[in-house]
Amino acid sequence: MTDTTQLEQQILADVAAAGDDAALETVRVAALGKSGSLTALLKMLGTLPPEERKTQGPLINGLKDRVSAALASRRDALKDAALEARLNTESVDVTLPVREAPAEIGRVHPITQVTDELTAIFADMGFAVAEGPDVETNDYNFTKLNFPEDHPARDMHDTFFFNPKPDGTRLLLRTHTSPVQVRTMLSQKPPIRVIIPGRTYRRDSDQTHTPMFHQVEGLVIDKGSHLGHLKWILEEFFKAFFEVDRVGMRFRPSFFPFTEPSLEVDLQYRRDKDEVRFGEGDQWMEILGCGMVHPNVLKNCGLDPDEYQGFAWGMGIDRLAMLKYGMPDLRAFFEADVRWLSHYGFRPLDVPTLAGGLSGGDGLARGGKNSSPNLATLASEEMTMDNKQIAELADKTLKPFLSPLGLDRVEVEPGRDHDDAPSLFVTAYYRPGSKVPEGDVLLKALGALHKAFLDVGEERFPYLDHRFAGEEEFEEGAFDGDTGAPSR
Ligand code: DAH
Repeated sequence: MTDTTQLEQQILADVAAAGDDAALETVRVAALGKSGSLTALLKMLGTLPPEERKTQGPLINGLKDRVSAALASRRDALKDAALEARLNTESVDVTLPVREAPAEIGRVHPITQVTDELTAIFADMGFAVAEGPDVETNDYNFTKLNFPEDHPARDMHDTFFFNPKPDGTRLLLRTHTSPVQVRTMLSQKPPIRVIIPGRTYRRDSDQTHTPMFHQVEGLVIDKGSHLGHLKWILEEFFKAFFEVDRVGMRFRPSFFPFTEPSLEVDLQYRRDKDEVRFGEGDQWMEILGCGMVHPNVLKNCGLDPDEYQGFAWGMGIDRLAMLKYGMPDLRAFFEADVRWLSHYGFRPLDVPTLAGGLSGGDGLARGGKNSSPNLATLASEEMTMDNKQIAELADKTLKPFLSPLGLDRVEVEPGRDHDDAPSLFVTAYYRPGSKVPEGDVLLKALGALHKAFLDVGEERFPYLDHRFAGEEEFEEGAFDGDTGAPSR
């Protein structure tokens, strides 16, 4: 028996001495493996005569149990020790900034945002979305919409035409979303209630017009649809879109070949510094064209004007975006400058809904739709330079661009932009009688200004405004088009 006692002491000592899992495994194999010392004893037990087996059996099996238990407890101890060691060496720096989720880095373009917003509003009123191709036929863009052949209204659309086909017909880039009215009436039975957001094209380019722009068309066809419905729809739309309790609207007679009567709608507004406020003030802004669908258009689309009637409207999406979010230059929309997008863009996960809010910025959970990461870093109002230095830098930067146009002086005022981010409002004053700066000059000047500020670590975004030195403000060409198309 001293044999087994010795063996047990030896094995238990080896177990206790095993410093890691691998060493412990070696001890286990040496004792309980195929040719282990204990295994040999157990095998030998089977060969003993019954008498001896009776006495040896409990001894050897007891030994095996104790060794197994010792192995298990040593394994646990080693595990605990390893964890303890890891906990002692590894540490988590809870002060590190949270990494941004990939989906939070991108930004939604204001055009997409505004399209989503107005789609949400009209969807709530029961409108479906209809779409059509950008490349259209003369027939759908003009003829079926009751533009007479050779009528000057066709020229007014500044159309991009493709080369004529052998049969003489010419495709074109649609000049408005109205051809989708035709496509909808040809393919659906009334009652029809659709909006048609989409790209449109005209040969035009300046601060408020780009060769490609966006419109949203509306079309309602039913047996009893009338102007009262149109008025209500538009009023509810503008209240929801501009997020105000009331809007003042004015209908003026107008002309479109595809509506009779035709009307233009003005919205009441007041200009508060750089901001346009709707529902107050004593100024009126042309915002859209509309009217009752012309009987000829109904006929051209296979509908009986004695049975059906309806109304339609069209307005510029880009302009709605400029007005709602205070963006002065339309061309910046399409220049793919990520700095512009990170400033004016919207957070991708904040989908506009009527219930959740259209444009965000109104709740902790939403974090403010426009609080882009760049703006978050700007949120400190600390000045990197004092006002005077900033004004001097602005003056120096703008001079090469604007002096030839009669720049008098530059003033800079810190302020907050439409989503409450600290910004710099830069006002360029011109000598009375100077030329109005526009086009690329303005864009380049603003770009240079932004860059100059970034170069000296001033991260607030500059807004460039223009005044005459004699206080008189510039007539803003920006707000006198109706459908996003050029005003003449
Ligand atoms: N298609 C017109 C344009 O681009 C806008 C318009 C006016 C659309 C009146 C309409 C409408 O549906 O009824 O200038």
